Amino acid sequence: MKRISVRSPSNIAFIKYWGQRNKELVLPYNDSFSMNLSNCYTELQIEILEDPSIQKLDFKEYQTETFKPMGEAFLKPVHNMYKTIKQVLGTSEDFGFHMYSYNSFPKKAGIASSASFFSALAMGFARAFHAELTEKELSILARLSGSGSASRSIPDGFVWWHAGESSETSFAESIAPPDYWDIVDLVLVLSREEKKVGSQEGHKGAETSPFFLARQEYLKIHAPEMKQAFLKKDFTKFGTMVEHEALSMHHIMMTQHEPLFFWSGKTVLMLQQISAMRQKGLEVYATIDAGENIHLICQKAHEEQVTRHVAAQGIAEEIISNSAARGTTIL
Ligand code: DP6
Repeated sequence: MKRISVRSPSNIAFIKYWGQRNKELVLPYNDSFSMNLSNCYTELQIEILEDPSIQKLDFKEYQTETFKPMGEAFLKPVHNMYKTIKQVLGTSEDFGFHMYSYNSFPKKAGIASSASFFSALAMGFARAFHAELTEKELSILARLSGSGSASRSIPDGFVWWHAGESSETSFAESIAPPDYWDIVDLVLVLSREEKKVGSQEGHKGAETSPFFLARQEYLKIHAPEMKQAFLKKDFTKFGTMVEHEALSMHHIMMTQHEPLFFWSGKTVLMLQQISAMRQKGLEVYATIDAGENIHLICQKAHEEQVTRHVAAQGIAEEIISNSAARGTTIL
């Protein structure tokens, strides 16, 4: 029996992907930009079996001891990914599999658990089919899983996903290695409850927001400016833009039809606290994905102070500290 082990990080987007230009090919409207997270990752082990009728996935939940078999709903996107990869590779080969997946963080809580899982799956399946793919090809495969952000977990460190014009030109690449800048993402777990509406569902309504086109226009200027601030390591400009960008995406979410309110009262309280911290001279900025939990972006030198401050508020159940990390790797 052949065994393949893959580890893949989740990522936090500084420029968000929200809305799909082509749903089938998972093509976004705009470029997005993210950092891979060192302490939020999926470890996936795939046992390759001769009998193709066996397709199993066992999942070990965050902070639990045992793997539990997952049902049809969970296996369906895995099966789809298997079919997509076969089609892309043009192979008629078949195999069965038994997978064991472990997440180092709570899933479906706005910490991009699909990104880490599907990027790991793309690399694992590619290896199982003996395909020698480039990083660009792997990021395209990961995107085709349906979880677009998975494409950004493949390359190392700080990653830019080019929206592209077609499936071949919509891929992610590293713009800086993990050690380029010692910025930290403190994930504030405000709740471990799973969100009720997934991103896949949410993307569909993005264009119905009256502010959708305005955001696209704003991003044409904002995205290259943020990239410049990042490359120059101008933290004040970069952080300010990151926070604006997250609020701009949530503005779309809240004004699309049906509106999506991912924030809880705790999220708003925390956002107010973050602003108060800045007014006291502590440089920290917030970003939020599709969930109520908050990601605090600060420089390593301020991490301890920020953590102390946040812990003292007593709002966060847990704080997960992340530096920039490598992309998807075969173990
Ligand atoms: C708000 O469709 O990639 O996180 O498959 O659930 O990971 P999942 O989501 P995906 O949309 C991501 C939406 C976002 C913003 C972002 O990460 O760019």
